[in-house]
Amino acid sequence: MRTMILALFFMTLLTLSACTLGVDNDQDSLTIYSERHYDSDQVLFDLFEDTYGIKVNVISGNADPLINRLENEGEDTQADVLLIADAGRLGRAKTMGLLQAVESDVLNTQIPAAYRDLEGYWYGLTKRARVLVYHPERVDERELSSYEALGEEPWASRVVTRTSTNIYNRSLMASMIEIMGYDAAKDFAFSLVQNFARTPTGNDRDQAKYVVEGGADVAIMNTYYIGRMMNSADPFEREVAETVKVFFPNQKTTGTHVNVSAAGVTKHAHNVSNAILFLEFLSSEVAQESFANANYEYPVNEAVAPHELLQSWGDFKAQDIHLTVLGKHAYDAAILMDEVGWE
Ligand SMILES: [Fe+2]
Repeated sequence: MRTMILALFFMTLLTLSACTLGVDNDQDSLTIYSERHYDSDQVLFDLFEDTYGIKVNVISGNADPLINRLENEGEDTQADVLLIADAGRLGRAKTMGLLQAVESDVLNTQIPAAYRDLEGYWYGLTKRARVLVYHPERVDERELSSYEALGEEPWASRVVTRTSTNIYNRSLMASMIEIMGYDAAKDFAFSLVQNFARTPTGNDRDQAKYVVEGGADVAIMNTYYIGRMMNSADPFEREVAETVKVFFPNQKTTGTHVNVSAAGVTKHAHNVSNAILFLEFLSSEVAQESFANANYEYPVNEAVAPHELLQSWGDFKAQDIHLTVLGKHAYDAAILMDEVGWE
């Protein structure tokens, strides 16, 4: 009898402490699956921890493996927030049922409607423009106009960009499908591929480097890499950033392609209110200033000014599309790029 009582007592104690641990986990911690891997993000996560006393666990990885993991884990997942550098993939996660809709006046105030899912499944946190970067000794700015024009004869063997599997290019083509229709977008992609200076390889920075090395004259790449290279420890990267010039294409027509890093609350989040608080924090002025100054991204919060480097390039017109279309056309974009032989 005494043994039984003792056993019961210890079992109760164990259960109690397990419960307490569980509650602690839910209330005081948050798990993020993040595709972003910048030191500046960790600084922000630390600030969130210090401000709210909520521990942030970050699991980093590439976007697709993180999305697959979330799907495989189902309701057992530890992830409360999915953070990805592409609205198209967040759209896919939404379609796969991996996210949940959340509502917050703070989020709706801090993030313009153009940069969030209108049903609340994901919220854009930073913007980047996909621009043309050129060598000023080989290209006169007046020769540049649009993405489409890079497929024309004067640009034969002078253009570089990365592969078609890269999400930045895939979302660029998804936006062109939305704007031009599939057939015209395919014609454009075909003509662009004919003018590539080399078979696509490397990341965005490598395209700018190739331009400075003389292999090509124009690269299609994201804005923030110029800022990052300007402050690189590698002298060649600094030279590249100081040599090339930035051009915003399609200013007289359909606007420059813009994408966002965005985050959504997972379907099986343990603590939805902490997750929302985290998104509110990341879109607050303090966090947006950090995104703007540490990683040279355009803030989504209009109360925060972009970094002076970005300001020095001037204002630009962005594509007038809702970013949810990037997810809608992601599959078609992949097919199209494959059909035109974009490696
Ligand atoms: Fe990037």
